[in-house]
Amino acid sequence: MLFQLKSIKPVALSAALLLMSATSAFADDKPYTVTNGNELDSASYAGFKLYRNFCARCHGTYGQGMVGPNLAESLNVISKEEFFNTVEHGKTGTIGSMPAWASNPKVMKGRENIYNYLKARADGAIGEEKPKKAK
Ligand code: HEC
Repeated sequence: MLFQLKSIKPVALSAALLLMSATSAFADDKPYTVTNGNELDSASYAGFKLYRNFCARCHGTYGQGMVGPNLAESLNVISKEEFFNTVEHGKTGTIGSMPAWASNPKVMKGRENIYNYLKARADGAIGEEKPKKAK
């Protein structure tokens, strides 16, 4: 009996750890919740509002691209770190030039939320449509 307990415990523990890491990886992959097609969790919805105020005029109302690239596509390519870095320092490349947002506290504080909204767009969880805030 004692032998059984000893041999079972580590297995159960590693299974639990595996489950935990799998769950947190999943949470990172999907940093948003979309319900009823267009209802966002409050953080992602706050991200959409910031996006609309500061980014939409160049990247399109829902990130579909305009003078700036389609961010729903970009977020399937660039990492979260690259996103944060580009937002903070701006970017000048073959498409054009984006200003740095380092001196804008609203954008800097909310860039995680903006990322969450755009990630939902990148995953196709929400389309080119006006999101609502989930109740
Ligand atoms: C004045 C227009 C303008 C505004 C406003 C703007 N951008 Fe940009 N953005 C651009 C342009 C142009 C590029 C492409 C630069 C290049 O690579 O040539 C770009 C590139 C990017 C990239 C890199 C995409 C990639 O595939 O590498 C990210 C991320 C990005 N913008 C996010 C944002 C966010 C978030 C906001 C709002 C806080 C924002 N942008 C506001 C014009 C703008």
